[in-house]
Amino acid sequence: MNRDFRGKTLAEEYRQPPFTPPWWLSGPHAQTMGGKLFRRDPDISLQRSRIDTPDGDFLDLDFTPDPDPTSPLILLLHGLEGSSRRAYMLTAYAAMLAHGMAAVGLNFRSCSGEPNRTARLYHSGETEDMGFVLKTLSERFPGRPLGALGFSLGGNVLLKSLGESGEEASTALQAAAAISVPYDLAAGADMLELNFSCPHMTVEGSGMKVSHAFALVEEFTEIVREAVSIPIIAKLTPNITDINEPAAHAKSGGADAISTINTVSGLIGISLDDNTPLLNIFGKGAMSGFSGPAIKPIGLRCIAQLAQNEELALPLSGIGGIETWVDAIEYMLCGAATLQITTGVIHYGYRIIEDILEGMAYYLEDQKVDSLSQIVGKALPNIVPTDEFDLSRQGVAQYDLDRCVGCGQCYIVCQDAAGQCLSWDDANRRPVMDEGKCLSCMICSFVCPIGDPPLINYKEVKNKPEVIPMRSAPCRG
Ligand SMILES: Cc1cc2nc3c(=O)[nH]c(=O)nc-3n(C[C@H](O)[C@H](O)[C@H](O)COP(=O)(O)O)c2cc1C
Ligand code: SF4
Ligand code: SF4
Repeated sequence: MNRDFRGKTLAEEYRQPPFTPPWWLSGPHAQTMGGKLFRRDPDISLQRSRIDTPDGDFLDLDFTPDPDPTSPLILLLHGLEGSSRRAYMLTAYAAMLAHGMAAVGLNFRSCSGEPNRTARLYHSGETEDMGFVLKTLSERFPGRPLGALGFSLGGNVLLKSLGESGEEASTALQAAAAISVPYDLAAGADMLELNFSCPHMTVEGSGMKVSHAFALVEEFTEIVREAVSIPIIAKLTPNITDINEPAAHAKSGGADAISTINTVSGLIGISLDDNTPLLNIFGKGAMSGFSGPAIKPIGLRCIAQLAQNEELALPLSGIGGIETWVDAIEYMLCGAATLQITTGVIHYGYRIIEDILEGMAYYLEDQKVDSLSQIVGKALPNIVPTDEFDLSRQGVAQYDLDRCVGCGQCYIVCQDAAGQCLSWDDANRRPVMDEGKCLSCMICSFVCPIGDPPLINYKEVKNKPEVIPMRSAPCRG
């Protein structure tokens, strides 16, 4: 190991003393917000210059005023989802100018305010564009010393480019510095979920439209599969005829798992005052994503459909309307190995996760089951097509009238939508059942307000003749 005259290694020489924050900005959150709140954006007029790239696209550069045509010119690279006009970039330009240097900010693709033409984006390992810009600058300003400064993702790009160029880097750049570089990118994600399911995206080949174009599901999954080694999950839309079709293509593309559902396409309502959709932006609304408890039946159905598909045989992540431990267990019984919650957390906060976990733990104890994995898919054998129902078994609705509150809901529904087997005892405010006419449709049990345990239950009756529902008009074939 090389040591200098003081006997220190290079690393020891440049080791920073431990960071000591100022007393008035001690916590990391305060420091993060401090920059945002206290920094005053310098007023610098930037001049935009567009250059054409070899792949038929463009890159937008923003130049500061030039203090001296012979001064160093510093290329600045912004961070993820930033642009060359972000506050930290402006502050850096001001510092460069104060030291007599000119600066130019590179806007990574689609970050300059205008989407790029080609389906190609920037990322922390994409160094071609930076190399092309440096070459362009050295041709446009021959002999002028060039430097580079990268922030965050821009720092990744810069350092990777320097590493790739090796010894040649010093001929293109006289100086380079990187700030706040994420150095362990892999630590940022244990797995990736590919959103092929957002109903809000309008561009073809994005969001939910990917789930509709099965070849794209496969192609996009393949691209990610080739790029990363961590597990990838394809998130599919319920707004489709058969969810198994995109799932099969995701599997062919290399997906390790499927998650579903994203939001259900819906329209919440219309204001009768001004005919604007509810949830609107300055009067205009869209058919957009509907979430929460109302979509749980759709989520359960999609998970069960995927879980029953033996050819798919991929782990499933259940989403849609989960708010309680009962919802969570139901999803697992239908085949979900993991669960995701959005609206529940938006509504009640992250604390509901604790409640859900506690409830699930009690459930396992109650069921004498050691691990959740043992309950995954347990309900699937009982979810069958309707033609597999055993219609030879008949029964009636059984009422525990001691608990009846006399609301009359059962009578109304049975009269107007079911077997008309109930009459109403006005004096006692109670339904009176004619069991022989009961269809055992159980609609009355859905409307009865008394639950836990339900007041109205199904009772099997041996040898009961099949009841043919009364029709107002004969069925025509
Ligand atoms: C406010 C909001 C933002 C969402 N953003 C995303 C998103 O960026 N990507 C995504 O895949 N799904 C997104 N979703 C969909 C949810 O992840 C989830 O699939 C859907 O809302 C159904 O689950 P839930 O009923 O628990 O909300 C969003 C949902 C909501 C309500
Ligand atoms: S089960 Fe159907 S037919 Fe029987 S009482 Fe209830 S609503 Fe009426
Ligand atoms: S719906 Fe339930 S509570 Fe209401 S009258 Fe019928 S049985 Fe009684």
